[in-house]
Amino acid sequence: MYEVKGKNVLITGAASGIGKELSLLFAGDGANMILDDMPEKMPILDQWAGELKSKFGARVWTFGINLAEESGAETLYRSAVEAAGKIDILVNDAGTLAYGNFADIDYQKQDFMVRTNVLAVFRLTRLVLPSMLKAGNGRILNMSSCSAFQPTVYHAAYAATKAFVQSMSEAVNAEIQGTGVKVLTFSPPYTKTPMLKDGNLPQKMFWYKISGLWDPAVIAAIGYKSFKRGKAICIPGAVNWFMHSIVVRLSPHSMLSAISLRAMKGQD
Ligand SMILES: NC(=O)c1ccc[n+]([C@@H]2O[C@H](COP(=O)([O-])OP(=O)(O)OC[C@H]3O[C@@H](n4cnc5c(N)ncnc54)[C@H](OP(=O)(O)O)[C@@H]3O)[C@@H](O)[C@H]2O)c1
Repeated sequence: MYEVKGKNVLITGAASGIGKELSLLFAGDGANMILDDMPEKMPILDQWAGELKSKFGARVWTFGINLAEESGAETLYRSAVEAAGKIDILVNDAGTLAYGNFADIDYQKQDFMVRTNVLAVFRLTRLVLPSMLKAGNGRILNMSSCSAFQPTVYHAAYAATKAFVQSMSEAVNAEIQGTGVKVLTFSPPYTKTPMLKDGNLPQKMFWYKISGLWDPAVIAAIGYKSFKRGKAICIPGAVNWFMHSIVVRLSPHSMLSAISLRAMKGQD
C-alpha cells in the first residue's frame, strides 16, 4: 500500500463532490493538502481547509485558480511548488460537464469544459511528472469517467474529453513502469454531485438504471483504495466494469451510438 503520510497532495476541484471526498481521505491519512478550485469557490475551500486542519492537524494551502485560463495550470503548479516545496501526488479532479445536442449547448460552456477537462489535465500531468521521475517516487490520479469508453450521445464533447484523459493516462502509466511513479486512471459512473445538477444532466435517464447513481463518498473510497494499491485503472461497480471494459469493446460503434441515443435521452 502506498504511504501518503507526510506527502504533499495537490487536488484540483477540491471544494466539491468527489475531489472534496478524496481530500478528506488523504488528509485523514496524514497527507499535506494543496487544494485548488474556482476563484469564486475560495470561501468554501478555505472553510473546508479549516475543517481538515482542525480534524486531522493537516497542513493545507488553498488556491482559487481557474484552470480553464491559458496560464491556469502553470500558475497553479508554480504556486503549489513555491508554497509546499514539491508535489508528491497530483489528483486531477476538476472538471465540468455539458449535456444536450452538440450544436445547441452554449459554445463558451463547451469551450471552458474542453480547456478544463483536457488542457489542464494534460498540462498539470506534464508539469509534475519530470520531478516525480527524478525523485523515483510519485503518484498521479487522473479523473476520467465511464463516458470515456464509447461515443456518448448528448454529452459528445464531455465524453471525448474523458476519452483523452483515459488514453493519455493509461499510456503514460505504461511508459513509466518501474520508475517508482504510477498513474491511476479513475473512471467513475454517474455520481450524485453538483456537477450533475443545474441542467447538466436530466434527473431521469434510462442509463442510470444500468450504471446506478452513486454517492461521492463511496466513489472516492473506491478510487482511493485503488490508488493506494497502485492500480492502473479503476472502474467502480462490477456492472460498469463489465459494460465498459468488455461489452463496449466487443460491440460495433454504430450499435453503441444507437444504444447511447436512446439510453442517454432525458425522461423528465
Ligand atoms: N459526477 C459524476 O457523475 C462523474 C462521473 C464520472 C467522472 N466525474 C468526474 O469527476 C470529477 C469531479 O466531478 P464532480 O462530480 O465531483 O463535480 P463537482 O462536484 O462539480 O466538483 C468539481 C469541482 O471542480 C471545479 N472546477 C470546474 N472547473 C474548474 C476550473 N476550470 N478550474 C478550477 N476548478 C474547476 C468545480 O467548480 P464549479 O462548481 O464552479 O464548476 C467544482 O468545485 C470531474 O472531472 C468529473 O468529470 C464525475
